[in-house]
This record gives sequence, structure tokens and C-alpha cells, in this order.
Amino acid sequence: MIDLATARAKLGREAVVLPDPVPAHPLLDGKREIGRGEYSIVLDKGDGERVYKIVSSPADYFLYTADDRPRGEHFPIVHADHGVIGRAQSGYPLHLIEMERLYPLTDGTPASDLAMRLIDFYWSACEQWSRLGTNMGRIALYHMTQNPLGIDEGLHEALKALSDFIEEYQVLPDILNANNLMMRKDGTLVFSDPVFIA
Ligand SMILES: Nc1ncnc2c1ncn2[C@@H]1O[C@H](COP(=O)(O)OP(=O)(O)O)[C@@H](O)[C@H]1O
Ligand SMILES: [Mg+2]
Repeated sequence: MIDLATARAKLGREAVVLPDPVPAHPLLDGKREIGRGEYSIVLDKGDGERVYKIVSSPADYFLYTADDRPRGEHFPIVHADHGVIGRAQSGYPLHLIEMERLYPLTDGTPASDLAMRLIDFYWSACEQWSRLGTNMGRIALYHMTQNPLGIDEGLHEALKALSDFIEEYQVLPDILNANNLMMRKDGTLVFSDPVFIA
């Protein structure tokens, strides 16, 4: 099994958390913060079905709003783009997205086992293409889509859609961090936050 902390350190990505406060906004008033990462803040909408996600990364904004974004059972359902609600200290605008509520992978579930296998495949591919520097992740993912991985067809299609999106929008894959892979209540594995911009 790979060591994720080592992997992320090798990829030059520290586990930092977005320092910005939640901007004042009528939709967000009194909503509970349930997640925060390097580029996003997630608030519970309170209906058990949806969340408000404040995104600062242009990569995430493209992924959730582009007409040609990847869709299907392994990608999050986006309900609304509520526009720009502020600006992050990083300088990027903060976009408010309303999307389906997802859940952390629970150890021992099929979604979690599948995610760990994918992360392992991806890590091996990254080792193989490490001489490519910043292009490593992109090329590694592309090669994963070109080879049979022994995973189900739907998931293989999702990897292809993700790889196509990454090429089209010149962003990078961010699937080594298990936090970026989540699941639905019904147990489906979802690529909730699979891209970033260097
Ligand atoms: N759709 C969602 N539903 C519930 N929690 C979420 C959802 N998306 C993300 N989260 C939580 O918020 C955290 C940060 O989200 P993530 O998408 O990884 O943001 P970042 O762009 O900062 O990496 C995740 O680790 C996860 O716990
Ligand atoms: Mg993330």
C-alpha cells in the first residue's frame, strides 16, 4: 500500500487549508461548515440532500459548471451555480455551487476498496512517468485509460472522461488524496474533487 503523505509530499502538494472566512451571503446564513480543503469550503444545506460548496480553484469551477464537464454516475451532480460571492486571499474569485451531498469513503466498503485500487494504479503510473515533471499526473492518468485495469466499464469510462476534461481544460489530476474521492448514500464511488491547477 502506498503512503499518501509521502506521495503528496513527492508531488509537492502540502495539506494546507483555505484560510478565508465564509463570505456573508443570504444562502449561507446560519449554515454549518462540514468540510474545508485547500481550495474549497463545504456547508450543509440542511435538507439532507445538498451542500453549498464555495470554490476558489478555477479547476473546480470548470469541473462543476462547464457545458462539457464530465457527467455520469461517478461525477457529482451539480444543481446550481449561484455566482461569485467574494474573493479569496489567493486572489481567485469565490464561486458558490449547489451540489449533491456526498459522504467520506467508509473503510471496507466496495467504494473504498475501489478507490484504494485506483489510487494504487495511479501512484504506480506516476512512478513510471515521474521524469515528466509537472506533466506526470496527466500522462499517468492518460495511460491508465489506455490499459485494462480490471475495473468495471463504467468506472473506466469515467476515468476517460476525466482524462479528456483534464486535457481540454489544461488542469491536473488530484486523485491521490482519498478525500477527493467520496461516495453517495447508495455506495457509488464519486470523483468529488479530482482536479487542480498548479
Ligand atoms: N459534495 C460534498 N458533500 C459533502 N462533503 C463534501 C463534498 N465535497 C467535499 N466535501 C468535504 O469537504 C472537504 C473539502 O472538499 P474538496 O472538494 O476536497 O475541496 P478542495 O478543493 O479544497 O480540495 C472534503 O475533504 C470533504 O470532506
Ligand atoms: Mg480536495
